[in-house]
Amino acid sequence: MSTFQAPKGTYDLTPPRSATFLAVREAIAAPLRDSGYGYIETPGFENVELFARGVGESTDIVTKEMYTLTTRGGDQLALRPEGTASVLRAALEANLHKAGNLPVKLWYSGSYYRYERPQAGRYRHFSQVGAEAIGTEDPVLDAELIILADQAYRSLGLRQFRILLNSLGDKGCRPVYREALQTFLRDLDLDEETRRRIEINPLRVLDDKRADVQKQLTDAPKLRDYLCDACKAYHEEVRALLTAAGVAFEDDEKLVRGLDYYTRTTFEFVHDGLGAQSAVGGGGRYDGLSEMIGGPELPSVGWALGVDRTVLALEAEGIELDLPYTTSVYAVPLGEEARRVLFGVVTGLRRAGIAADFAFGGRGLKGAMKSANRSGARYTLVAGERDLAEGVVQLKDMESGEQSAVPLTEVAAELTKRLG
Ligand code: HAM
Repeated sequence: MSTFQAPKGTYDLTPPRSATFLAVREAIAAPLRDSGYGYIETPGFENVELFARGVGESTDIVTKEMYTLTTRGGDQLALRPEGTASVLRAALEANLHKAGNLPVKLWYSGSYYRYERPQAGRYRHFSQVGAEAIGTEDPVLDAELIILADQAYRSLGLRQFRILLNSLGDKGCRPVYREALQTFLRDLDLDEETRRRIEINPLRVLDDKRADVQKQLTDAPKLRDYLCDACKAYHEEVRALLTAAGVAFEDDEKLVRGLDYYTRTTFEFVHDGLGAQSAVGGGGRYDGLSEMIGGPELPSVGWALGVDRTVLALEAEGIELDLPYTTSVYAVPLGEEARRVLFGVVTGLRRAGIAADFAFGGRGLKGAMKSANRSGARYTLVAGERDLAEGVVQLKDMESGEQSAVPLTEVAAELTKRLG
């Protein structure tokens, strides 16, 4: 070990587990790519004000969890705690919404940073793959996104996840509910911090995990009873579309989410094998966010799935992804001359599109064959002085154990044929 370790709340991705992370990112991205979502990449940091306004001044994310910094030039920046505000900012900046093709459908993948108390499944640096559909109010779009996330998880073999669904109302009906809830909450026996929360973000109080708080919330006014007709109809349509698609969900009135920009549809994917940090992904509609960050009215919807927690969910379900070995051919030279010749062969194979690796460092046959085994290569090429004198290499099929001499000039063609 060196003098240094990964900072608290972070961890390194190293082989072989890192391959699973790549595969998970790919599995989440594939259905998006196939559904018209274009790839977007934004900086790892943004103006701190973007998140303050976008995610919400009163959220834990903004008040407690942001990594903020002042640059030498005096700019106030924050490492991105989430992707939605950045993606919308970038779409507006590039005028993607003016290209006459709404919704603007985008997907992204990257690192996010939150100064949280680290525990299993909760890190200070984590990875998300997300999708945003900007500029259209249509329940089909909400349904599409939920169905695509469901499809991604299923393609990975995950089964023990559930979809929680709720509607948070819109800028017309939610404020009325908010006030009714505040009036109710103010009469309860609650601690100082929770009392402050009633005034800033009363819906979050519903999310309080403590039993003594939950007990007092039994008779709290229900958002469902305050939804306007348009929000109700919208939500019923989303529900009907999911049902028609055969995607099961649970109505969860308590689902509020930790970001302030949500309106109407909100949802979370929870996995039952993960303990406290059970949310593997989440999202919803954010019809007002564009205006909150100075843009035009652009009703939008999206989600982000946590890659770290998805990998933990796979492990919890005992799922091993069928990850093909990357190396197909492993070359083992015996002697100086063979090193030069076989390295040339390997270079040629690689240029022909065959994944090949090489026993570096001039090891003996036994050690090199161990490496060949570990690499998972289907074939090895072994050559010593006598082989070279005859202009051949020994091609060994690692599955059957069969070995044959192949002329040097035909190795690439032979392997291309055998590897199909
Ligand atoms: P979020 O629910 O804050 O939503 O994060 C989405 C997912 O990221 C979570 O479900 C979880 O899997 C993962 N995640 C969040 N924080 C951590 C952490 N500290 N450690 C490990 N994993 C974590 C958003 O970020 C929204 N931007 C989603 C969205 C997109 N809404 C609309 N569009």
